[in-house]
Amino acid sequence: MEVVIAPEAQLAALAADAVERLLRVKPAAVLGLATGSSPLRVYDELARRHTENGLSFAAARGFMLDEYVGLPADHPERYRTVIEREIASRVDFAPGAVQGPDGLAEDLAAACATYEAAIADAGGVDLQILGIGTDGHIGFNEPGSSLASRTRIKTLTRQTREDNARFFGGDLEAVPHHCLTQGLGTIMSARHLVLLATGRHKAEAVHQLVEGPVSAMWPATIMQHHPHATVLVDDAAAGRLQLADYFRQTYADKPAWQTI
Ligand code: GLP
Repeated sequence: MEVVIAPEAQLAALAADAVERLLRVKPAAVLGLATGSSPLRVYDELARRHTENGLSFAAARGFMLDEYVGLPADHPERYRTVIEREIASRVDFAPGAVQGPDGLAEDLAAACATYEAAIADAGGVDLQILGIGTDGHIGFNEPGSSLASRTRIKTLTRQTREDNARFFGGDLEAVPHHCLTQGLGTIMSARHLVLLATGRHKAEAVHQLVEGPVSAMWPATIMQHHPHATVLVDDAAAGRLQLADYFRQTYADKPAWQTI
């Protein structure tokens, strides 16, 4: 696991560099797209590079991490809508190239299985962008999630619903209780994981992710088993890392030819 501690704009540029490098060598790459506020600067940077430098997503595919159950198709916080707004519509993905789990399906379990199959059919995810919840969830894999789980229905914790209420005008009751999420096993199948976290409220989750024992109590800790995981954090989110000095030194000494 590589941990980079840097200002937020630099983190977004590093993540965008990784996506750009991938698309240049593999235009038909499969990208894993996360919602939440953490990836927004990355999406801004990718949209900028598309407009200004011609970075193309025309042959690429995108798979979302998760989706709320039951939000109407036109709801502004439905994750399909959010991803369309924040990245898909700003670059040149082909129509239908970005997919998410169907939170409006009549048979939700079947929709989860269909989604797993679609990811597999696409050849798996090359680069997965991730955020992390304050309780250590990735996707919507709340504490207690099976470390081997695949896409399935989950019930959100009160903490996550409170954290996300800000997207629903501060109204906790408006935040759905259920979601569909790629499982931890699904996420671990991606070839490169790039997680972004900023702010002091993420410091404990980041500490557990990087330095805690691998445990379903902090689901993101499963990333310690991934052969290519990159954790991009600002000073505040790194505030509880015991190895912060080592990570800073390592990044300062990183050879120019070595990418994340
Ligand atoms: C949400 C999303 C996650 C996201 C996390 C952190 O609930 N399902 O994919 O990583 O919570 O969100 P934020 O980046 O807004 O802090």
